[in-house]
Amino acid sequence: MKLKVLIVAGDGIGPEVTAEAARILRSVAEWGGHDFEFHEALIGGAAIKAHGTPLPTSTLDIALESDAVLLGAVGGNEFNSLPPDRRPEAGLLQIRQALGGFANLRPAFAHPALAANSPLKPEVIDGADIIFVRELLGGLYFGEPRQWDREAGSAWNTMRYTRDEVVRVARVAFNLAQNRRKKVTSVDKANVLEVSQLWRATVSEVAKDFPDVTLEHQYVDAMSMHLMNTPRTYDVVLTENLFGDILSDESAVITGSLGMLPSATIGGQVNLYEPVHGSAPDIAGKGLANPLGAILTAAMLLRHSANLEQDALAIETAVRKVLEQGYRTADLARSEKDKKMILSTQAMGKQVHEALNEII
Ligand code: NAD
Ligand code: IPM
Ligand code: MN
Repeated sequence: MKLKVLIVAGDGIGPEVTAEAARILRSVAEWGGHDFEFHEALIGGAAIKAHGTPLPTSTLDIALESDAVLLGAVGGNEFNSLPPDRRPEAGLLQIRQALGGFANLRPAFAHPALAANSPLKPEVIDGADIIFVRELLGGLYFGEPRQWDREAGSAWNTMRYTRDEVVRVARVAFNLAQNRRKKVTSVDKANVLEVSQLWRATVSEVAKDFPDVTLEHQYVDAMSMHLMNTPRTYDVVLTENLFGDILSDESAVITGSLGMLPSATIGGQVNLYEPVHGSAPDIAGKGLANPLGAILTAAMLLRHSANLEQDALAIETAVRKVLEQGYRTADLARSEKDKKMILSTQAMGKQVHEALNEII
């Protein structure tokens, strides 16, 4: 198996967590006799500092020549006063658009070993297993016109979708559901927004091609409550870009920490893999970051870009084992017992690596 992976570690905890994910990928290649080629490039604040732009052409060129891109996180407080198009986050949006992946898969489930980490009652989260399909290239993030007219004291963005954009992402959700519990919950704001009415009508149309899958529609405000009350009732949750951004962070409450959540963006020229969390400036550089979201992201990379399902499963099992053994990063340490088992980012990465070595 030959695979060219570009690592764009980015800012804050990005380099810390991707180092652990890369360690795992390197060993999977070595143990399995695979020929993985790794490249590194700058993005976000790191790229602004070195090249004056959040997505240098050199980074984009090598990304487009790769089989998969693994991204850490971008963003930093020092860039917060820049206009959106010059911030580190603009580099992330540009690379997403250039790679073309429109379906961002964000799984969130309740790890039994972390049952006490969620503020939700164990009986509420027990068995919860959701995958969000977040549309990633449309909606408010990319809609035109967009502007802040300072003189007029007015600003606007545009939430726009075409029927085709909804069809292609909906098909991903229904296909996933067919191999899971056969339920799609589509989330919108069709009681207020025309763009959501288009969304709802289109998803209902696509559903006709998948008669074995049950479709339900929810409004986003109610959904944000249902997710916390009855997370077990959801299987595939399909939604537009901004709603998916918000609901997927909310789902971290089910798992116990944002640092646990992985993602994969598929459907374009090159798949993009990024943990759901950001650059976490509050804990950056201290070895406090949880690398498990990034490591589980590496598992998604093996699954979706290398067809190495067994290795992906082995990584997921290794993560589960380490958690069952009681190891924690600081974000996962709630009880006194947990606090005695806190590992640094690197030590947690090594622990997963060791567990994986025993499985593979
Ligand atoms: P964040 O996700 O960086 O952090 C939110 C909270 O979760 C913080 O308390 C942080 O310490 C904690 N956290 C996040 N990841 C963690 C991990 N792996 N281990 C332990 N704790 C973790 O969100 P924010 O603070 O709102 O944003 C910070 C910066 O990150 C901003 O510039 C934002 O734009 C950017 N951001 C980038 C991405 C990305 O690159 N994919 C995603 C989200 C936010
Ligand atoms: C995410 C992040 C990004 C998004 C930002 C940093 C552009 O929050 O990946 O969830 O909103 O998509
Ligand atoms: Mn987000």
